[in-house]
Amino acid sequence: MAQATTAPGPGARGGAEDLRGRTVVLIGGGSGIGLRVARRVVDAGARVVLGGRTAARLESAAAELGEAATWRTVDTRDTDSLAAFFDGVERVDHLFTSAASYRVGPMRELSDEDAASPFDSKFWGQYHAVRAAAPKLARDGSVVLMSGAASARPAGPAPAYVACNAAIEGLGRGLAVELAPVRVNAVAPGTVDGHLWANRPAADRDAAFAQYRRDALLGRPAAEDEIAQAVVFLFTNGFTTGSTLYTDGGYTLR
Ligand SMILES: NC(=O)c1ccc[n+]([C@@H]2O[C@H](COP(=O)([O-])OP(=O)(O)OC[C@H]3O[C@@H](n4cnc5c(N)ncnc54)[C@H](OP(=O)(O)O)[C@@H]3O)[C@@H](O)[C@H]2O)c1
Repeated sequence: MAQATTAPGPGARGGAEDLRGRTVVLIGGGSGIGLRVARRVVDAGARVVLGGRTAARLESAAAELGEAATWRTVDTRDTDSLAAFFDGVERVDHLFTSAASYRVGPMRELSDEDAASPFDSKFWGQYHAVRAAAPKLARDGSVVLMSGAASARPAGPAPAYVACNAAIEGLGRGLAVELAPVRVNAVAPGTVDGHLWANRPAADRDAAFAQYRRDALLGRPAAEDEIAQAVVFLFTNGFTTGSTLYTDGGYTLR
């Protein structure tokens, strides 16, 4: 009887799990979750290219990471800026774009411009980043999209933001089909106690964290590094594609 074999996946060159010598592009990697991902992949032997709009932020993040890190400014809302960014990057083994800035609120209160801002920045920003990176993406590489658990459980009235995250998860499935064998996945964090919330008004932050302590099964917001660990898992698991990983402490179950 013929023996069943499992052909090695495209990650067989040293295994998708092996980040040594890989180039990981982290747009938004100058702070927060992206910077935590940078620390993890550099510790695993990868090179990182950090992107963001503020040179000083990127310079200090790269200095903290050491010689495996380089940086280039980029604005993900500008396709010319993305093209120039990727012109300067030789190869892309993994891409994660946590870069986004937007306004969130109720339909009846937001201007159309503010309501569109999550789509303009977070959805189209990531779409255009992947499109610009695509010619340089390694066949055994991957893309991780940034979503948010609000896609499945809105924390409050913010319908355009909720829809944007749901669209990003759909984008991940669509790109997984188009770009295979490159793997494409999304990570959907709940509320994270980190850089983003540290820069919001204290009253908003306290209310969001209190709500999360009440509503998440694990009774607390995430640490940035817990989300970073999930991103690295999606980079390195050679058989996961088209998935959304909810790193939300069980928030979407209550
Ligand atoms: N933190 C949370 O609780 C949470 C929960 C769910 C989802 N998320 C998602 O996580 C992402 C934010 O990541 P984070 O929490 O790590 O926050 P963060 O520290 O504020 O990171 C965002 C990074 O992106 C850069 N950036 C913003 N807009 C950009 C643009 N147009 N082009 C290039 N770079 C840009 C920022 O730097 P510059 O301003 O210098 O460009 C910053 O370094 C958002 O997509 C958010 O929806 C966060």
